[in-house]
Amino acid sequence: MFSIRFSLPTKIVFEIGSISRVGYEVEGLGKKALIVITRGGSMIKFGYLGNVRLSLEARGIKYAVYNNISSNPKADEVEKGVEFAEKEKCDFIIGLGGGSAIDAAKAIAATLASGKPFIKYLRKEKEISAAYPIVAIPTTHGTGSEVDKYAVVTDTERKAKISIISCYIYPKVAILDPETTVTLPPQLTAATAFDALSHALEAYVNRSTNSLARMFAAEAIKNIAENIEHAVKHGVNITIRTKLLWASMLAGLAIDLVRTALCHAMEHPLSAFYGHVHHGLGLSILLPAWIKYTLESAKKDFAEIAEIIGLKTEELTIEQAAQSVYNYIVDLRRTIGLDFKLRDLGVKVKDVDAMVENAFTYMKPLIENNPRIPTREEMKNIYMEAY
Ligand SMILES: [Fe+2]
Repeated sequence: MFSIRFSLPTKIVFEIGSISRVGYEVEGLGKKALIVITRGGSMIKFGYLGNVRLSLEARGIKYAVYNNISSNPKADEVEKGVEFAEKEKCDFIIGLGGGSAIDAAKAIAATLASGKPFIKYLRKEKEISAAYPIVAIPTTHGTGSEVDKYAVVTDTERKAKISIISCYIYPKVAILDPETTVTLPPQLTAATAFDALSHALEAYVNRSTNSLARMFAAEAIKNIAENIEHAVKHGVNITIRTKLLWASMLAGLAIDLVRTALCHAMEHPLSAFYGHVHHGLGLSILLPAWIKYTLESAKKDFAEIAEIIGLKTEELTIEQAAQSVYNYIVDLRRTIGLDFKLRDLGVKVKDVDAMVENAFTYMKPLIENNPRIPTREEMKNIYMEAY
């Protein structure tokens, strides 16, 4: 039966130079913004924070900056952000940066309006019932968090990276300025594009998928395949960056509709156990093993993906066409300098069983959304294939 439900309460502003018009675009959302950025300092170094500040000042909007967020945001960093926002009397939240800053902004906004402490929402002991207005300004082309209802935060005590899901945490405004992505260094360019690619691939083949999600995912896959290599080699090319940012937003819409699947279910334990592992990098390592495992239950879908990527499939059987996606991903990882294995990231074999257990405890819905659903033993084999 053909059935689609889709509503997006987010105003999307996708335009070169739009970061300098933040003040105008957020008019009416509040009097004082909490600007959430990560500790890394790139938002300051490249002037993006300065652009946002000037733009807010020009409209008479006050702000306070909270920069205590790590690259895999932690629950206590969110709790401290909530305290800080209360002290500063902020009434709306701006997430500026990659998915970490945006997701932390969402978590802070929800806790401010629904009541403390944040950990209760993360542990599903309490439901989010409201959120302060959220503005998302992505400066990477990876998460798509600017257009979805998810926020991923790590519960350090339980060593679990968990998604909170709520319609209240859709950003009110998403400002996508391709110019802010040109400063991404080559490895982060590749890793964040791989996050978006994983979103699109998982959304295309998973059990919940539908025509609209596939339309978004297909367009995302096509744009990433056409541009990822150039972006890594010629990062300043604004046309290429525009296409990648566009693709990551579309992949975000796809997973907002139908979620991800097994590859994400297995990456979350990885970056929960090893906090230094970048989400996109973790995915790029698991992706070939995930495709290899999933292929036999989604041959037709992967054969379609081969065509979307532009691989030569005319003389191939469906099985061969599907297999060509695996070969393509393996080659692509090498070409763009992401040819790593889990062991290169310092992952220990002795942790693999615990990561499997962690996935089955916290990531069950995504595991069960995969075309082929693994046993614990099979999941272990997938991790070991990527080792
Ligand atoms: Fe992701």
